[in-house]
Amino acid sequence: MNTIEDLKEGRIPAHLAIIMDGNGRWAKQRGKLRVFGHENGVQSVRDAVETSGKLGIKYLTLYAFSTENWNRPKLEIDSLMSLLVASLRKEVKTLHKNNIRLNAIGRIDSLPRKVLRQLNEVMEQTRQNTAMTLTLALSYGSREELTSAFKAIASKVKNNIISPDNIDETIINDHLYTHNLPDVDLLIRTSGEHRISNFLLWQIAYAELYFTETFWPDFREEHLLEAIKSYQNRERRFGKTSEQIH
Ligand code: FPP
Repeated sequence: MNTIEDLKEGRIPAHLAIIMDGNGRWAKQRGKLRVFGHENGVQSVRDAVETSGKLGIKYLTLYAFSTENWNRPKLEIDSLMSLLVASLRKEVKTLHKNNIRLNAIGRIDSLPRKVLRQLNEVMEQTRQNTAMTLTLALSYGSREELTSAFKAIASKVKNNIISPDNIDETIINDHLYTHNLPDVDLLIRTSGEHRISNFLLWQIAYAELYFTETFWPDFREEHLLEAIKSYQNRERRFGKTSEQIH
């Protein structure tokens, strides 16, 4: 069995990103509405934050709502938004106590006012915290993020703030929602789907990918430790040969 103490002896990802998937199917298996899956997924979020903290992971990014999720039935969207507000309200003290900073990426301004207000409040209250940055991807889509970045850069070129010759990876990175986060080291997707679904396409260039059959509401500490173990057993070469690494 993997223990946190054992794993801490090895390489820990600085930035862990998770595509939390399978809430709907988990609920359906139990003859319940999809919302029941989301409600139970909240406990998995709590668990993932806690375990990541214990492992010393500095950046945890969760795909909570994609730009495509706006196409879901209104009832499900409304429930997800209410769940988000309630969870933020409930967890703010715990986040603060554990020195965790809340961050958000995506078209945040397209969220309902009550969500935006609660989100801003928690982000403001935890702004100075340093142990971990917990980023919620909300109304997030990677292509939208890249398009906005390119638009902003094009506008700076037009206004002679940037010369086209100077556009490099750093400048592109600086215009992404994730400008203050490092690249992703490990990306986990639950529920057996092997897709990236428009999540952090630029930022996962060299990430290790880990897929598990476990549905998100069942994802607990043991599952996260298993993913970290798998990460530790891999060799990250960043395009170099194995001999160059060792
Ligand atoms: C994917 O499962 C999950 C989501 C779209 C939402 C995730 C939200 C939560 C876990 C709750 C609130 C979040 C926070 C940060 C407190 P799915 O609905 O796509 O499942 P399916 O693939 O089985 O249909």
